[in-house]
Amino acid sequence: MTDQPVYDGVVAHGIDTSRPSGPRVYDCLLGGKDNYEPDRELCRQITKVAPEAPEWARANRRWLAEVVTWLTAEAGVRRFVDAGCGLPTAENTHQIARRTNLHSSVIYVDNDPSVVIHGRALLLDNDRTQFVAADLTRPKHVLADPAIADLLGAGQPVALVLGLVLDHVADFEKTRKIVRTYVDALPSGSYLAITHACKPGDGGPVDALVTELSEKVRPAFPDLTFRSVEQITALFDGTEIFAPGVVRLSEWHVPGGRVDEEPPADVREVVYGGLARKR
Ligand SMILES: C[S@@+](CC[C@H](N)C(=O)[O-])C[C@H]1O[C@@H](n2cnc3c(N)ncnc32)[C@H](O)[C@@H]1O
Repeated sequence: MTDQPVYDGVVAHGIDTSRPSGPRVYDCLLGGKDNYEPDRELCRQITKVAPEAPEWARANRRWLAEVVTWLTAEAGVRRFVDAGCGLPTAENTHQIARRTNLHSSVIYVDNDPSVVIHGRALLLDNDRTQFVAADLTRPKHVLADPAIADLLGAGQPVALVLGLVLDHVADFEKTRKIVRTYVDALPSGSYLAITHACKPGDGGPVDALVTELSEKVRPAFPDLTFRSVEQITALFDGTEIFAPGVVRLSEWHVPGGRVDEEPPADVREVVYGGLARKR
């Protein structure tokens, strides 16, 4: 059922509640309320195969909080673009950043009609937060948006956050080019933070899990792609990745930090992340 118009004319269709939507399924995994029965049904199918999937989503949000806090508190970043931001949840980028610096500016970008509508309603609670309804696979179009052009044009470091969104672009070379176009447009001293669904490719239990999971989600999300660590690392072209590189989120730590507790060896994790700086 298509029941609502969408702003800006960028997303030309309304909210379709008759089939699952990526951000609403993710919201469901996070225990949110902005989802419908088809989203919940797919969520149930996912957790049947991978009971730990809600923890992957929560770990991804904890990672976002850790990265944004480090960027504001330690690296002095005051400007963020959170592209593929998802539905508003408990702790969003601008709230995390403003805890350290009230003057942080955040631009959210997403192209899903549910996110556009809820995002505009819930994320824009101060004049330093903006929402751009756009398809991030069209970087030139996104970079030409006046809000984004202004933010980048100030010449100050910007943190570009791409959390669990590049896995929605099936073609690897296309994905790499998209990210490189954004990196080239960032002022020097900017940061790139990526999380991505990973298939390690070592023939282990996570590979088998990913194969099963991919079959479950393919009918709803045919483009969803799990990439190898090498491929995810290659998406950081043109930047310098901080140690520990692209790793499972439970192994990741902020630059100069360390992991408090080593994850048990048998833990199944598919979300990998990394943080890098453009010289
Ligand atoms: C799994 S959610 C991740 C949300 C958030 N970034 C996080 O890490 O918690 C992926 C989001 O990317 C958005 N997305 C997918 N493809 C996109 C595209 N081509 N342009 C803009 N947003 C996109 C979806 O609408 C969804 O909100």
